[in-house]
Amino acid sequence: MNELKKAIIPIAGLGTRMLPATKAIPKEMLPIAGKPIIQYVVEEAVEAGFKEIVFITHSSKTSVENHFDTSFELEAELEKRVKRSLLDEIKAISNLKVVIHSIRQGKALGLGHAILCAKSILNSNEPFAIILPDMLIDGPNKINNLSKMRKEYDLTGKSSILLGKAKKKDIKKYGIAKVNKNKLNHETDIVIKIIEKPSLKNAPSNLFAVGRYVFSYDLIEFLSKTKFDKSGEIQLTDAIESFLKKNQVNAHYLKGNFYDCGDKIGNLIANIEYSKKDPILKKAILNHLK
Ligand code: UTP
Repeated sequence: MNELKKAIIPIAGLGTRMLPATKAIPKEMLPIAGKPIIQYVVEEAVEAGFKEIVFITHSSKTSVENHFDTSFELEAELEKRVKRSLLDEIKAISNLKVVIHSIRQGKALGLGHAILCAKSILNSNEPFAIILPDMLIDGPNKINNLSKMRKEYDLTGKSSILLGKAKKKDIKKYGIAKVNKNKLNHETDIVIKIIEKPSLKNAPSNLFAVGRYVFSYDLIEFLSKTKFDKSGEIQLTDAIESFLKKNQVNAHYLKGNFYDCGDKIGNLIANIEYSKKDPILKKAILNHLK
């Protein structure tokens, strides 16, 4: 069985929910408690044991790639000004133990199309993870949900989807799953259906795909056969729905909190909650909130 090494992170979307902030700045570079969203996500993947990151990107998003590259001028200047801790923090970003690849998605033709763009970089039969960078996950006691999914794949070869509980009002925003539950052991629950953005009435549950997936290579075959929908996009959910019918996909239940940083309120809440945990910002933000 092929080892799970690559995490695909699609960042080629337009980020319309965050306009006007995202007119000239990639959504993924917006800060949460002073750190760009994408840095949290790449650090999560590295910590989970992924060796390679594949950004599916767009010409307007070069600052994301630059963020993970060495910045000689900045480093020299921080050295000159003896800003040691800042220098260490900046160097650590480009020293992350991971290989970063970039593939262009010329036009935003949907999340499924974005993932399909990674086909050329995957070896034959190579499994992969998908990480949606808008969703930040804060596991309790530093639990890394993705790490658990990666380890399970390496042991069993089973694909998996991370599921969280959506509030009723948010069900229409996400991919909602139907799960075959094993009453004796929820570790072996299986996802049997997934519906993109259903109405509350049609939703099979309140369990939504949080944006962390592990798939065997076969998903690429299903994506290749998925047709463009009415809005001219290839939907990832459509390919997963076909994949589920032929392959076992385990349900993983989210441990911790999630923050949808792709919309204005989620982004603001994430800023408050992450600041409350940051050793430098904590005191000032708690005082302010009082
Ligand atoms: P979203 O549904 O959040 O779309 O995509 P978006 O364009 O980023 O944001 P809104 O809805 O207009 O505000 C989920 C992820 O998939 C990527 C996005 O960059 C985001 O990380 N994506 C989406 C692509 O890479 N390509 C696409 O064609 C669509």
